[in-house]
Amino acid sequence: MKRYMGNPLLVLFFMTHVLIFSFSSSKEQQYISAVGDSGMRRDGLRVAFEGWNFCNEIGKEVPAMGSPRAADCFDYSSPSLKHKVTEADNKLGVGKPFPGLSSKALNNADLYAVEKELYLGSLCEVADTPKPWQFWMVMLKNGNYDTKSGLCPENGKKVGSFKPGRFPCFGDGCMNQPLLYHQQTDISETGTMKGGFNGTYDLDFDNGGGIDGISFFEVVWEKKVGVGSWVFNHKLKTSKKYPWLMLYLRADATNGLSGGYHYDTRGMLSTLPESPNFKVRVSLDVKQGGGPKSQFYLIDIGSCWKNNGAPCDGDTLTDVTRYSEMIINPEIEAWCSPSNLVNCPPFHISLNNTKIYRNDTANFPYSAYHYYCAPGNAQHLERPVSLCDPYSNPQAQELVQLLPHPTWAKYGYPTKPGEGWVGDSRTWELDVGGLSSRLFFYQDPGTPPARRIWTSIDMGTEIFVSDNFEVAEWTLSDFDVLTSPTP
Ligand SMILES: *[C@@H]1O[C@H](CO)[C@@H](O)[C@H](O)[C@H]1NC(C)=O
Ligand SMILES: *[C@@H]1O[C@H](CO)[C@@H](O)[C@H](O)[C@H]1NC(C)=O
Ligand SMILES: *[C@@H]1O[C@H](CO)[C@@H](O)[C@H](O)[C@H]1NC(C)=O
Repeated sequence: MKRYMGNPLLVLFFMTHVLIFSFSSSKEQQYISAVGDSGMRRDGLRVAFEGWNFCNEIGKEVPAMGSPRAADCFDYSSPSLKHKVTEADNKLGVGKPFPGLSSKALNNADLYAVEKELYLGSLCEVADTPKPWQFWMVMLKNGNYDTKSGLCPENGKKVGSFKPGRFPCFGDGCMNQPLLYHQQTDISETGTMKGGFNGTYDLDFDNGGGIDGISFFEVVWEKKVGVGSWVFNHKLKTSKKYPWLMLYLRADATNGLSGGYHYDTRGMLSTLPESPNFKVRVSLDVKQGGGPKSQFYLIDIGSCWKNNGAPCDGDTLTDVTRYSEMIINPEIEAWCSPSNLVNCPPFHISLNNTKIYRNDTANFPYSAYHYYCAPGNAQHLERPVSLCDPYSNPQAQELVQLLPHPTWAKYGYPTKPGEGWVGDSRTWELDVGGLSSRLFFYQDPGTPPARRIWTSIDMGTEIFVSDNFEVAEWTLSDFDVLTSPTP
């Protein structure tokens, strides 16, 4: 069991408290880590990579790169590292069999990636209580969408091609997967372990040359044996051809559907956190913001439930991905405002559980919301309403995007623009469960409220259709998800 006792100051306070009131029974809550590698402290790292196209699939593999699923997993066995995944495993791609691969997936790039992830998971899996777990997940997504390709469904329904213009795409092949390079983790004489993934979407790239003029992504992890947390250094750069990119580090469910998927996945969340009883602890140091369109998510949570409140079951016509995230780039302004109610959720729930309707201009905290959009398959929406992009997920989606605001103070979130941003690195302890229990999510009238169980918790940036070459750079460490036993 992984237990978490809070930061040293809190522990000290608690000890003082005990000294003074040694006879009173302790009321402090004991948190249990919901992730396999609590606080990223385990020397034997488990990390994987996944590439997504616009609707979270593959489309087509890049020649010689294999299916865009890879992993770096090893145990530390003094003085060396014992790796679990070979480069041949990482290069597996359509047409190449591996243990457990189904015949229908052998020549289908989308299905092949799903099963490759399960296979890599089986190589990386750590036996543990309450459940085995597999890896942290580096997710890279390209926001180009070739509307003539017919590759993405509309709210989960298959549709044909339509006129271009609404989405970035430079032409044929704009939805390609990246070139992926892997530096397998090794250990220096001084006991520092280091490895990484990097690459680009620009297929004419010559590795070894510079990255001027092209897109680039990189995640390098580093840790001294026996000391502290792994530090994940991230870098993401857009280009003219690839103006919309996402790079996140995810803690996903260890089995079942995780946020944004409609198939079985592998991950790190050996216990699924449920609102309101969980927190997220993470250290973040943003070194470069990524420009005015960089929607940096201090934390992004993803789940799936149907509009009638039932859990998802993989039926893309009725499953709805639900996301909520706080954007900490101070250059991102609230789209929700008294004159743009269409971008606000129908109501805000205040700390005393009062519903404040968005037309209550004296009380609604407009600047606490960047954007709300509703699932495209919802039948009873309050107007005016903005519908979420119907193509960028395998099924309909709903988004609640937040901004720093005093109304979130109680949950430990940033309250002012700029908090947690460049030059203000911090270790956050966010009451993500408490906050997410009060957010508006759409449900059909009269249906029992969905259990808000989160299958994906991640952090990173989405540089959203940028006109310039933009670079974001940040480090993340100490990541933990802490659940409290239900009171
Ligand atoms: C990407 O990673 C490879 C393998 O570790 C390395 O050789 C290369 O220099 C890196 N590329 C850049 C542009 O940093
Ligand atoms: C609840 O909070 C709202 C806004 O924060 C405030 O206007 C209202 O007076 C409060 N109601 C009660 C019963 O405390
Ligand atoms: C504000 O919105 C609520 C909920 O939609 C509605 O019941 C109420 O009539 C509206 N009030 C005004 C003044 O428009």
